[in-house]
Order: sequence, then C-alpha cells, then structure tokens
Amino acid sequence: MSVTKEDVLNALRVVEDPDLRRNIVELGFVKHVAVCAPLVKVTIELTTPACPVKDKLREEARRAITALPGITSAEVEMTAQVTSRFSGGAGGFPGIKNAIAVSSGKGGVGKSTTAVNLAVALARTGARVGLLDADVYGPDVPMMLGLRGQPAHDGKRMVPHERYGVKTMSVGYFLASDDNPVVWRGPMIHKFLQQGLGETAWGELDYLIVDMPPGTGDAQLSISQILPLAGAVIVTTPQAVSTLDVRKAISMFKQVEVEILGIVENMSYFLCPDNGKRYDIFGTGGGAMLCERFDLELLAQIPINPAVGRGGDQGEPIVVADPDCEEARAITRAAQRIAAKIAVRNTHALPILE
Ligand SMILES: Nc1ncnc2c1ncn2[C@@H]1O[C@H](COP(=O)(O)OP(=O)(O)OP(=O)(O)O)[C@@H](O)[C@H]1O
Ligand SMILES: [Mg+2]
Repeated sequence: MSVTKEDVLNALRVVEDPDLRRNIVELGFVKHVAVCAPLVKVTIELTTPACPVKDKLREEARRAITALPGITSAEVEMTAQVTSRFSGGAGGFPGIKNAIAVSSGKGGVGKSTTAVNLAVALARTGARVGLLDADVYGPDVPMMLGLRGQPAHDGKRMVPHERYGVKTMSVGYFLASDDNPVVWRGPMIHKFLQQGLGETAWGELDYLIVDMPPGTGDAQLSISQILPLAGAVIVTTPQAVSTLDVRKAISMFKQVEVEILGIVENMSYFLCPDNGKRYDIFGTGGGAMLCERFDLELLAQIPINPAVGRGGDQGEPIVVADPDCEEARAITRAAQRIAAKIAVRNTHALPILE
C-alpha cells in the first residue's frame, strides 16, 4: 500500500516543538505535503525564523518521513510566519508585529551595542527587522551601523535607513556631527517617538528593536504608552547588577505591565585570546543573582572584548564582523531565545486547533 499524506502527517506527530510542548502537526506547522514515492516533500512553517531548534526539527522530520515504507528521501522546507499578539500589529502601527525595548536603568552598560547586534542577528535569520533609536540624548545607532544623513521622504513618510537588513530611524540622522546635544523636554521626546514610529515607512516588521536611553524617565514611559511592547530586555554589567538603577528599570516595566523577556549580562568576563582562559574581572554570578531575585531568565553573558567596541565605532557590529566569536554567538543565542519566547507567548494567546 502506498504512503498517503495522512501517513506523512501521522509520522510527523513524533516531532515536538520543545517550547510549545506540542507536536508540529497539532500546532498546524505542517503546511504542505507532497508524496511522490520514494520522495516526500513537506513545508514546515514555524512562528519565527530565528527558532533555535530549527535544524533539529528539520532533521527529526526528515527521519520520521524516511522511516515510512517505500520512502527513501525527504525534502523538508522550513519557513516562518512570525506571529503577533496584537491583531493588526502593535497599537496604531499595523505593520509592527513585535516591539522589543532594550533597556537598563544605567548608562554605558551596552544597551545600544546589544540592541544593534540583536537587530542584526534577527535580520540574519531572515526576519524583517527595524531598529528605533529612542535615545534622543545620545543617539548611537547611526555610528554603530555606519549610517548618517537625513532620511529621504516618500511624500508621505520618512524612509528609514537600512543596513545589514535592518531598517533604522534615529534622531541622530537629523543632527550634524558637531551639533550640541539637544535639550529635550518630556513632551518633545514623546513627539519624536510618535513620529519615529508613525511617520516612518517601516513596512512590515516582524521585530522592532527599540534602543532606550539610560534612566527610567520620560522616554521609557512614553514608549510604553505609544507602542504596546511584546517585551523588554534588560542589559546590565556585573558591577551594575546591584545598583538601584537596574532594579528601578525592572520595576518600571513591571508597573506598566510589560513583560521582561530576560537579562543580558554584558562585559561579563574576559576571554584571553592568548591562552583561551576566562577571567571574571568583575566577579561572577551577578546576572544570575538578579535573575533569581526577580524570577527572570539570563539570556546571555557577553564577554568584554575590545572588538565589540571597535565594531560599534566602525559601523560593523560584532555579529557581522566576526559571527563565530563567543561574543557574537552569545548575542545570537539571546536573539533566538527572545524570538522563541515571544513566539510561545503569542501562540498561547491564540487557541490551538487540532
Ligand atoms: N562586550 C563589550 N566589550 C567591549 N566593549 C563593549 C562591550 N559592550 C559595549 N562596549 C562598549 O562600551 C561602551 C558603552 O556601550 P553602549 O554605548 O552600547 O552602552 P549604552 O548602555 O547604550 O550607553 P548609553 O547609556 O550611553 O546609551 C561603548 O563604547 C561600547 O562599544
Ligand atoms: Mg546607548
């Protein structure tokens, strides 16, 4: 008896999404099955292209299919359709599926570095990604992506600059390099954020990363009022862990009911290039302690490495400049975890149909 589509679907029930704890058939991920013995072709549609277990799922599916009688090869195509918990996008911004704030109460801990690298890492998986520089006081995104100059206008809206597959908008594009820092008042920040979001031709975005200024002031409150966030990522360094600033940032997001997706501990340790040894310059366990205290996930520990800083200064983020180094891999893993976590939340917000 020849193998049918039903047989293929039944076989694929052994393939389980480890985050959602359901099999891919039940989840409705199997979109297309074609049987042409001895070959079977299937398309599996995940809820993020940044799925950390994409290759594992593909391999399990391939194995399940080729175990069927008379089937010797399987072509498994992995695609993704990123979900959003907001039907029609976040707030009044129909194209924005998931907005993620990268924040920290404290300055200089690596928020912008993390935001830029997360955005590029997500874009490299094939996701459609935007990066809004909400730091009106010290906009660093233009330098970190090697971009400058006023964005064009398409007659209706500003056209975001684009680099490494990431669309960006920053107040920095409107400042000449020798401009004095602008003194911003609360309402002006609110207006800029509204314009940066609403008057920018973002198009369809799976993820919009928002690089926040330091502090827990006007910009933080404004962004959570203007744009419903899928979540926030808190960046800290081991020394900053115990500071009031970081704890304040955590409680601020809790107050406005924005989910904290986890903690990125930056400048965690130094990996000596000469002997490969790890030096915990600022002590260990700070990020982990913070996570335990607030019941949060430690998304990454990024080593301190001059190449990370250089990448930022030269407009070539470390995930582009040296994607295989430990620093880049740590950020890429964090990007995958963030995407997976959001996908799980969004899926649980929807009824699952058998
Ligand atoms: N892992 C790292 N290793 C080495 N240098 C780093 C690392 N992360 C960030 N830096 C450098 O530290 C400095 C501060 O980083 P960054 O600008 O990303 O912090 P920030 O939190 O956004 O600061 P601000 O509060 O001013 O916005 C930058 O010069 C950056 O290049
Ligand atoms: Mg910054």
